[in-house]
Amino acid sequence: MSYHQPVMLQECLEGLLLKPGGVYVDLTFGGGGHSRAILERLEGGRLFGFDQDDDAREQAEKIQDPRFRFVQTNFRYLKRYLKLYGVKQVDGVLADLGVSSHQLDEAARGFSTRFNANLDMRMDQQGELSAREVLNTYSEQDLHRILGQFGEVKNAKTLAGALVAARVNSPLETIDDLKEVVNRFAPRGREFKYQAQVFQALRIEVNDELKALEEALEQTAEVIRPGGRLVVMSYHSLEDRPVKNFMAKGKFRGEAEKDFFGNMLRPFVPVTKKPVEAGPEEVAVNNRARSAKLRVAVKV
Ligand SMILES: C[S@@+](CC[C@H](N)C(=O)[O-])C[C@H]1O[C@@H](n2cnc3c(N)ncnc32)[C@H](O)[C@@H]1O
Repeated sequence: MSYHQPVMLQECLEGLLLKPGGVYVDLTFGGGGHSRAILERLEGGRLFGFDQDDDAREQAEKIQDPRFRFVQTNFRYLKRYLKLYGVKQVDGVLADLGVSSHQLDEAARGFSTRFNANLDMRMDQQGELSAREVLNTYSEQDLHRILGQFGEVKNAKTLAGALVAARVNSPLETIDDLKEVVNRFAPRGREFKYQAQVFQALRIEVNDELKALEEALEQTAEVIRPGGRLVVMSYHSLEDRPVKNFMAKGKFRGEAEKDFFGNMLRPFVPVTKKPVEAGPEEVAVNNRARSAKLRVAVKV
C-alpha cells in the first residue's frame, strides 16, 4: 500500500464486471493494487499486468500465481504481447493512467516538484528521452508547443524563450535549475500550480503519454470480446477527453462514423454517461483520488 494506494478500487472492479474464469488485462500495474484485487476475485481465469517501470516489475515479482503474468513494456504494445502469449481476446481491460505515488515519491525519478534531482521523468528507466533532453535540445518553438498543449501553460511562449536563454550558459540539469527559471513566470500565489503544469507538460512529452494512450485504446477495440469491458481512470482533462471521445464515438476527434441507416459505427458503448468520481471518504484518505475520473464502456 505504501507503493501506491489504489483509487476507486471497488468502482473499477464493478466496471470490469469480472467473470471468474475470464481473461483480464491491467495496463498499468504500478504497485498492483488493482491487479491483486482482480486476482482475488478470479477462479481460474488469467490476468496480464502491463507496466514499463522496473520498480513495478519488482512489485509484480512478489505475486506468485500461475494465473498472473507481468509484461514489462509500454501498453501501446498491448496487442503484440497478447498475441505473443497466444491470447486473441480478453474479457476486460483496466487502465489507471499517469504515474504512481511511488514514482512521485522517489526523488531521483524527477517527477515531483517537491525534491531536487536530475531532470529525468521517465516512466521507463530504459527510455531514451528524459526531461533533461527535452529542455536542453528542443527548439524554442517545440518547447512552446509542449508547454501550451500538454501543460496548458498560459505564458508558454515567454517561458519557452526564457528556458532557451537560460540553457545558453549552462545546460539545465536539475529540478532546481528548472524551477529557478519557471518561478520567474509563475503568477504570484499560484507558483505550485504553475510548476505542476510545467511538470505535467514535460512528463507527457518524455513518456509520449497521449499517443501511447490513443494507440492502446485503439487496440482495446480489437482485443476485447463483445460484451467485454473497458475501464479507464484518468487524472486530467488531456487524458479524459480522448477516453471519453473514444468510448462514445470510436474516435478521438470529430464526429462518429455512421452507416447507411445513420447508426453510429463505434466499437464501444459507454456504460457511464458521466465519469465516476471518488467519494468524499476516499478523497479524505487519499488525496490522489480527488482528480480521478473513471469511465466504463462495453464492447459492441
Ligand atoms: C497510477 S499508476 C497505477 C497504479 C495501480 N493501479 C495500483 O493500484 O498500484 C500508473 C502506472 O502505469 C504505468 N504506466 C503509465 N503509462 C504507461 C504506459 N504507456 N505503458 C506502460 N505502463 C505505463 C506507470 O509506470 C505506473 O506504474
